[in-house]
Amino acid sequence: MLKALIFDLDGVLTDTAELHYLAWKRLSDELGLAFDRVQNEALKGVGRLDSFEIILKNNGKNDAYTQPEKEKLATRKNEYYKELIKTLTKDDVLSGITELLTEARKMGLKTAVASVSRNAPEVLERLELTKYFDTVADAAKVKNSKPDPEIFLTCAEQLGVAPKACIGIEDSQAGIEGILSAGMFAVGINVTVTGRTPDLCLCSTEELKLDYLIKSFKVKR
Ligand code: BG6
Ligand code: MG
Repeated sequence: MLKALIFDLDGVLTDTAELHYLAWKRLSDELGLAFDRVQNEALKGVGRLDSFEIILKNNGKNDAYTQPEKEKLATRKNEYYKELIKTLTKDDVLSGITELLTEARKMGLKTAVASVSRNAPEVLERLELTKYFDTVADAAKVKNSKPDPEIFLTCAEQLGVAPKACIGIEDSQAGIEGILSAGMFAVGINVTVTGRTPDLCLCSTEELKLDYLIKSFKVKR
C-alpha cells in the first residue's frame, strides 16, 4: 500500500533547476569554460562540488585548480544562485504541486523532500511549502549524492515508512537511479532518460494527479 510521497526539490517543486544552470553558466563564462544546457542535464541532482568537477572534466581541466580553489569557486556559484533565489515566492511553485500535496496529506500519506541542495530549507520557506512536508532530508548529513539511494532511504526512515511503500518524484536521471535503487516507485518529470527508465514518465508536474499515481503504483506492486 502506498504510504508516502518523496519529492525532489529543484525541477520538481519549483523551476530552480534553471537557476542552478544560470549560476553555473555565469561562473563558467567568467572562467572561460564551455557550458551549455545539454551539459547541464548531467548536473541535475548532483551535489555542488561534484557538479563543478563535471564542468571541469568536460573542459579537460580537472587539474586546473587546487581543491581549496575549487571549493572557493563552487562557493562563488552558490552566491550567484542565492542572489537568484531571493526573488522566489509561492507563485513559483510548479503547477499541480500544491494541489497534490494538499490531497496527499488529506488522505493520510506522508510527505518528504529528498534534495541534495543545502539551500533546500531556504527555497522551501520562500515558496511557503515547508508546512506541507513531514520531513526534509538534511543535505549536509547525506554522505552519498544521487544516484546513490541514501537520501531517499533517509527520508523513508525519517517517515517510518518502508521504501517499497513510497513513490519518489524526480526530474533528473541521477535521481531516478536513486529512487529505483532504494526500491521505490519512480516518477520522472520531463527526465532526459540516459539510464534506467522511471516506472512512470510524465511531461510536467501538471500531470501529477494523486489518483493516477495511486493507480500506476498499484499496477507495478
Ligand atoms: C540539486 C540540484 O537539487 O542540488 C543540483 O539538482 C545542485 O543542480 C544540488 O548542484 C546542490 O545544490 P546546492 O544548492 O547545495 O548547491
Ligand atoms: Mg531535480
